[in-house]
Amino acid sequence: MLQARALTKSFGGVRAVHEVSLAVPEKSIFALIGPNGAGKSTLLNLLSGIYQPDAGTLSYRSANLIGQPAYRRVRLGIARTFQKIRLFKQLTLLENVRAGFHIHQDAPFWQYFVRPASGRFDAEARELLDFVGLGARADERAGALPYGQQRMLEIARALATQPKLFMLDEPAAGLNAAEVEFLLQRLVDISRRGVTLLVVEHNMDLVMNVAERVFVMDHGVPLYEGTPREVQANPAVIEAYLGGEFAA
Ligand SMILES: Nc1ncnc2c1ncn2[C@@H]1O[C@H](COP(=O)(O)OP(=O)(O)O)[C@@H](O)[C@H]1O
Ligand SMILES: [Mg+2]
Repeated sequence: MLQARALTKSFGGVRAVHEVSLAVPEKSIFALIGPNGAGKSTLLNLLSGIYQPDAGTLSYRSANLIGQPAYRRVRLGIARTFQKIRLFKQLTLLENVRAGFHIHQDAPFWQYFVRPASGRFDAEARELLDFVGLGARADERAGALPYGQQRMLEIARALATQPKLFMLDEPAAGLNAAEVEFLLQRLVDISRRGVTLLVVEHNMDLVMNVAERVFVMDHGVPLYEGTPREVQANPAVIEAYLGGEFAA
């Protein structure tokens, strides 16, 4: 579904992503892991069009993505969430999700805020809020939500763009155990609806129980790729993590 070859991105002297090739199969749950600073977020930024690569090729369902800005990729069905949550904090939950629907419309973005009563996507937006457990808070301000719920709201807003490929950057970070469990169930539900997932994650429960393929990066380069079981047993991976997360 998504194919990257030799993607490279440097910041000054820092080789954040160096000649990374990967192929994400349609309808899979694909995890991207690696120590802090490995280049995971940079790679996600390259895949989603936040950054353009210095070198390499990138295609999505055989369409060339290089040079395509982020909003065009969203229209192609590629959505994402950010490691540092990005929401319209002054707007309500409903307005945040409604904003996600605009991407496939020709009406200007601001119309969704100046005509809030138009309600064209309200039913769908409320359904998505229910799906992430926030239906009862639809009319509250996003900024007033606790952290874990802001995370789920960001997911609902991304789903409003009707993605076929959904990429999440550390969705479980900062969540408590119950929230992680809920997130995990929702990711499985999203996957069952036929959406391909690419998840950057440190939470090994999530990676090992949910992912089908695991791609490991370290220092900007691929370290290993395999099934969760293979990754857990790989000496190079264990060494990169100093045994920590993988120690039984
Ligand atoms: N916008 C940026 N400007 C300068 N350096 C950056 C930028 N983004 C990332 N880096 C550097 O690139 C490397 C990889 O970072 P990042 O992709 O955020 O890693 P990860 O998400 O795996 O923790 C790090 O050394 C980081 O400091
Ligand atoms: Mg990161």
